[in-house]
Amino acid sequence: MPETERLASDDAGIARAAALLAEGRLVAFPTETVYGLGADARNGLAVAHVFEAKGRPRFNPLIVHVPGLDEARRIAAVRGALERLADAFWPGPLTLVAPVTPEAGLSDLVTAGLATVAIRVPAHPVARRLLAAFGGPLAGPSANPSGKVSPTSADHVLDGLGGRIAAVVDGGACPVGVESTIIGLDGDVPVLLRPGGLPVEVIEACLGRSLGRAGGGIRAPGQLASHYAPGIRLRLNAAAPAAGEGWLGFGADPEGIDAPTLNLSPSGDMAEAAANLFSHLRTLDGLMHGQGTVAVAAIPDRGLGRAINDRLRRAAAPRP
Ligand code: TXA
Ligand code: MG
Repeated sequence: MPETERLASDDAGIARAAALLAEGRLVAFPTETVYGLGADARNGLAVAHVFEAKGRPRFNPLIVHVPGLDEARRIAAVRGALERLADAFWPGPLTLVAPVTPEAGLSDLVTAGLATVAIRVPAHPVARRLLAAFGGPLAGPSANPSGKVSPTSADHVLDGLGGRIAAVVDGGACPVGVESTIIGLDGDVPVLLRPGGLPVEVIEACLGRSLGRAGGGIRAPGQLASHYAPGIRLRLNAAAPAAGEGWLGFGADPEGIDAPTLNLSPSGDMAEAAANLFSHLRTLDGLMHGQGTVAVAAIPDRGLGRAINDRLRRAAAPRP
């Protein structure tokens, strides 16, 4: 495949991206969470190429991006608690899993044969302009090789998928930095399938009830234990690095570290930490030449901290 085009996020770049998508090509684009790998969700061949480019197992379904609730209703039955959440938080870093409408014409590969589909309405202005220009539903998993750290810049996308996709629209760094929160229904009970950019506490306050936990009949098939894996090993909830370990801090750093060091947020700001998480993991991986161990400071397990800790646990999990 020829070199991947880097498109500006101006009108010409968006028009080029929409034209490539209409031809069934793959175009990565920025969202407020991470970069997505866009493909026409109605085009089975285009969607098959997404799995191929990412090396993604076919049983792991994709998120479909649409401009708003009206368009979401054309492809799925968004009802009950899901409807309340859509009203409150779309556009934004929230994905809803709802029964798919078979007549909607989505490729079966998008849902991996499930009776439900994951839908997201992104808030990022570049994603919104691309959806408007393309005029259809866009399948969009994170734009990284399967099992690797998600991309929060166009450079990250090109590092992982350069030469394997037609283009990336460069919209700068993603402001949220961790993927969307995914909510499904188990009967009438709203269930957390993946913690993410919209804090669980905010969702529970909106619904006036606590979320059920994934397990039993409903889960996100992509939640494999080892995910987001950098080359370096991570040692979580550390007070300080041991000799030879790198350090990924949060809040004040311990004294006298002489190994590679980065800090997610020196002031202890959770939003700043989420925005820095994936790029800091990549940078430390490079500084450590993909070897050795990085000790990671403890991060409070509330608000965005839940999503950060979820991604850190997956990055630290033993590799298959
Ligand atoms: O923020 C995000 O959500 C980003 C941006 C690009 O939108 N996308 C993203 O997609 O993280 P991906 O493919 O990396 O993660 C989608 C997750 C996977 O864990 C998948 O198993 C789950 O959504 N999923 C998709 N369809 C599902 C369904 N019908 N039921 C349960 N889980 C589903
Ligand atoms: Mg992903």
